Amino acid sequence: MEFSVKSGSPEKQRSACIVVGVFEPRRLTSVAEQLDEISGGYLSNLLRRGDLEGKPGQMLLLHHVPNVLSERVLLVGCGKERELDERQYKQIISKTIKTLNETGSMEAVCFLSELHVKGRDTYWRVRQAVEATQDSLYTFLQLKTKKGEPRRPLRKMVFNVPTRRELAIGERALEHGLAVSLGSKTTRDVANMPPNICNPVYLFDQAKALETQYPNLHVDSVNEKQMEQLGMHSYLAVGRGSANESIMTIMEHKGGPADQAPIVLVGKGLTFDSGGISIKPGEAMDEMKYDMGGAAGVLGAMHTISALNLPLNVVGILAGCENMPDANAYRPGDILTTMSGQTVEVLNTDAEGRLVLCDALTYVERFDPELVIDVATLTGACVIALGRHATGVFSNHNPLAHELVNASEQSGDKAWRMPLWDEYQDQLESPFADMTNLGGRPAGAITAACFLSRFTRKYNWAHMDIAGTAWVGGKDKGSTGRPVPMLSQFLMNRAGIESED
Ligand code: BES
Ligand code: MN
Ligand code: ZN
Repeated sequence: MEFSVKSGSPEKQRSACIVVGVFEPRRLTSVAEQLDEISGGYLSNLLRRGDLEGKPGQMLLLHHVPNVLSERVLLVGCGKERELDERQYKQIISKTIKTLNETGSMEAVCFLSELHVKGRDTYWRVRQAVEATQDSLYTFLQLKTKKGEPRRPLRKMVFNVPTRRELAIGERALEHGLAVSLGSKTTRDVANMPPNICNPVYLFDQAKALETQYPNLHVDSVNEKQMEQLGMHSYLAVGRGSANESIMTIMEHKGGPADQAPIVLVGKGLTFDSGGISIKPGEAMDEMKYDMGGAAGVLGAMHTISALNLPLNVVGILAGCENMPDANAYRPGDILTTMSGQTVEVLNTDAEGRLVLCDALTYVERFDPELVIDVATLTGACVIALGRHATGVFSNHNPLAHELVNASEQSGDKAWRMPLWDEYQDQLESPFADMTNLGGRPAGAITAACFLSRFTRKYNWAHMDIAGTAWVGGKDKGSTGRPVPMLSQFLMNRAGIESED
């Protein structure tokens, strides 16, 4: 898709389609009014006859409106003017884009990006419009033999800003929006890939493919033999029942001064989580191909920061592994010695994410990190706590938690902080080892984070539980590309990149 930002008047546009808003009840926006005037009241007549009320997301496609140079006019319902909020804005843009893509307009000039959205500026509206466009046109068709794509797909979008003064702001928003979308797409593509193709080597190969595109990006790996030498027995135990070798991929973006301590991102990369010997029930087990969503998110964020070439040093770890039942698999009752030296009694082989992550979190001490963020589809309990709307954020450092929640608000990629109080640590007590890998049913998302906190005492750390947000199930099943927008925003803020007017 090709994008541009303009500041023009609607009657001068010569395009396949021009998109303008209508508020509820039957009120033309000021740009729609300009079209109404040159067309001799054509639009206001339609509204009066009841063709469009202006409810959010209502669409009316018109052809050959008198005296309008563009072939089509798409009227889009925007709801009550004073109620237009972030969520509604994004939904309206998505629906507009889908309509354009399916009705033969290969290009369009859109004035919705000029609408007033409560508490948001021009930068935000253009950036969100770009991201919503790319998100809503996303498809995963690699493995379909009949692709069924539209005959005349949308190819070019122009987003308007209210004044010429705002063109530079719009351009910057466009650049950032494209970089975030690029990262989200990478995340979605690798997460949607089935587990018979997407295994730990595949994750490594995807990182290698990025390395060839970006000179500041370097990719390395740690295989099972090396993990053995490093003492990563917990990570190794989880993968022992799988025919696919465990591989930890190390990506390094060197955009900052050589002596600058890196920000480290660690992604849970369970390319399939069957539960192991504590096997999961069959229902929706296929969705456990998304248990590498954390690694996919880290890969996507690394793509975004490479595209923006942020002046930061960032390390991305993809902790690739597969959890399968087998004669060689680890079992409930096993006691594992982690790389940190602490021992863990396994009570449930389905609580495997923390066993992989704890060793990866110890491994990253060697980078002398500025801070570490792990990203993981860690617990079903997080979905119970926050539903599918917000990522759970946990941290041992208040300022870092605030920075992350702020980045989530800025980017519209919702997150909510959860407690990490010592009281919860007791649930991990074991009679035989330093801890168990299971905290019981109450506060399952928190006790999982508490487990990780025992391996992150040497640095500032945050944990993001994306179990509810990384993908959606049901008929529109698919990866969401989250939390790439939030992570990218956090890193852009760290790099001092401006993300407002
Ligand atoms: N990958 C799952 C968590 C998960 C489950 C995410 C469903 C999204 C949807 C994780 O490895 C897991 O199985 N967690 C268990 C932990 C339990 C055994 C303590 C869970 O959440 O049930
Ligand atoms: Mn599991
Ligand atoms: Zn898992």
